[in-house]
Amino acid sequence: MTTPAVEPVVAGAFPVGFRFGVAMAAYQIEGAVSEDGRGPSIWDTFCRRPGAVAGGDTGDVACDHYHRWEEDLDLMASLGVESYRFSIAWPRVQPDGRGALNRRGVDWYRRLCSGLRERGIEPVATLYHWDLPQARQAAGGWAARDTAERFGEYAALMSAELGDVVDAWITHNEPWVTAFLGHAEGIKAPGIRDWPTALRVSHHLLLSHGLAVQALSGAVGITLNLAPVRSDDPAALLRMDGYMNRWFLDPVLRGRYPEDMLAHYERRYGPFDVVRDGDLALISQPLDFLGVNYYMPQRVRSDPARQPLELGFVHPVAPTTAMGWEVDPDGLHELLVRLKRDYGDIPIYITENGAAFDDPPVVNGTLEDPRRVEYLASHLAALSRALADGVDVRRYFAWSMLDNFEWEHGYAKRFGLVYVDFSTQRRVLKRSGLWYRDFIASARG
Ligand code: FCB
Repeated sequence: MTTPAVEPVVAGAFPVGFRFGVAMAAYQIEGAVSEDGRGPSIWDTFCRRPGAVAGGDTGDVACDHYHRWEEDLDLMASLGVESYRFSIAWPRVQPDGRGALNRRGVDWYRRLCSGLRERGIEPVATLYHWDLPQARQAAGGWAARDTAERFGEYAALMSAELGDVVDAWITHNEPWVTAFLGHAEGIKAPGIRDWPTALRVSHHLLLSHGLAVQALSGAVGITLNLAPVRSDDPAALLRMDGYMNRWFLDPVLRGRYPEDMLAHYERRYGPFDVVRDGDLALISQPLDFLGVNYYMPQRVRSDPARQPLELGFVHPVAPTTAMGWEVDPDGLHELLVRLKRDYGDIPIYITENGAAFDDPPVVNGTLEDPRRVEYLASHLAALSRALADGVDVRRYFAWSMLDNFEWEHGYAKRFGLVYVDFSTQRRVLKRSGLWYRDFIASARG
């Protein structure tokens, strides 16, 4: 099979200083969950809950990246990747989420960052990609304000320990997912199903972001999962946009919660009294960039029977990925232009974008994944259109370099540019990996 025809992206569409990267996250790749003093996280616990994760999979071994990181960085370098977004596992560096640091864990991340720098790859570190130390969960988790305070301390410690080798910090990955999928839907750790708790959690996550921004030096941002909303019904569209996008964008970039959503939630659950004086000022401190994870648009309709949002599910329009997610590159362009229009000229990093497909087997040392190539190419083309329209995008991170542990889906959903045989830990470059390598090289002229 040959590489499919893809929309050409003009060389030179990406400004000097723009970097192409890959993204991964600690629990999804590292394994070594009880090595070198790492403490348990809420994902270790959640994976052991019967029925929580497909196939009973866990992150115990994952891609064994904790031991194979040098080989993985060599692979990254061979693709010409210029930036790597990884996450620090809080329980690896501070096993209880408070108190003393675990030196062996911190040293591991120092080696990782140094290894990246030696290969000319920029280290971008996310402080929280969902793996809360279990000890913090036992103390109330994100529903407790104290967890935000502890997160601020953890951020200060990481800044002091790794500030000289990390180029940019991301406080949180997708607080919407932590708050609502973790605490209202219960499909992700810690698996709680209680809307008022999820709303408290959302505020404490944002507060912890603010405390971390205060504690960190260097370039700092937050990663939000954002989506353009599609609906025939303007009220449903506004509600969904408020729930997914504005509930996080407005506090971070405007220093206030959106009035319509506050009123909606308060009608059901009473006053949103978790917010204290000064919180919103902390939350809205200036950032160096906004991280955006984009995968798909959201389609909704009005459904008064479904509380509390009164929104119903609408089937995605084909084509879709193996996740059932609609493929819509124009949605990325639309989202970026909207961010500029509504929130001004903040530099943007696309911190995740990519697709899972049911890949065919490895043949002759590679794997043909034309739909992933097309997904990446079309989204990069959409991104270049946004650049041409004046949106200040500075990074693009493909999710993901390696096939990895896809949370509640276990190892069944593969997003990698590199195939991983989980029984042998062999890595095989997919066609999409080769394509990304060539794309980066050609964008560099
Ligand atoms: C995002 C997560 C990332 C990965 C992708 C597919 O929501 O941040 O860890 O699971 O989805």
